[in-house]
Amino acid sequence: MHNDIEKILVSEQEIQNVCKKLGKQLTKDYQGKTPLVVGILIGCVPFMAELIKHIDIPLTTEFMRASSYHGATQSSGQLTIKVDLTCPIEGKDIIIVEDIIDTGLTLKAIKELLLSRKAKSVNVVTLLDKPDGRKVEFIPEYIGVTIPKEFVVGFGLDYNELYRNLPYIGVLKPSVYEK
Ligand code: IMP
Repeated sequence: MHNDIEKILVSEQEIQNVCKKLGKQLTKDYQGKTPLVVGILIGCVPFMAELIKHIDIPLTTEFMRASSYHGATQSSGQLTIKVDLTCPIEGKDIIIVEDIIDTGLTLKAIKELLLSRKAKSVNVVTLLDKPDGRKVEFIPEYIGVTIPKEFVVGFGLDYNELYRNLPYIGVLKPSVYEK
């Protein structure tokens, strides 16, 4: 598994530091509120687990599963909601937790959906941002690390459902997906 990685882009230690920093900021910004933290499955899992440990205010959690990738390394642009929220969100302050934003298509559509369900506010925290990959205008409110337009795996991010368990974020060798 580690042999398929060309280079490490964000180390385990850097990820820890980023989660602490984002958690601290969210604690400050959401003082006096009880936000609903919505993780976008599956990639959010390690990030969300680490992040919420550092948000020091009452909060609740939910998950959604949406995809615009379907196993390829280029976005198809087609959004599918596979798992939806289990509670009404009217009047709630929502923090969406995402692993990476590339084209922006997924998160733009999810944010619009949650606002149409009358959430009070919807902000996005992403571990990674690839601004050079945007196909629609989308600026997340909270960004962990901005990275170049490369295909990365690890810490929740997959290629064909593999590599999510790597403790760091790495660039996959092109030979792996050119096979
Ligand atoms: P967007 O709609 O293009 O912004 O895509 C967001 C989703 O695409 C993420 O939640 C990931 O599942 C997937 N994705 C985008 N870039 C990468 C990458 O470099 N590696 C793995 N998955 C990615």
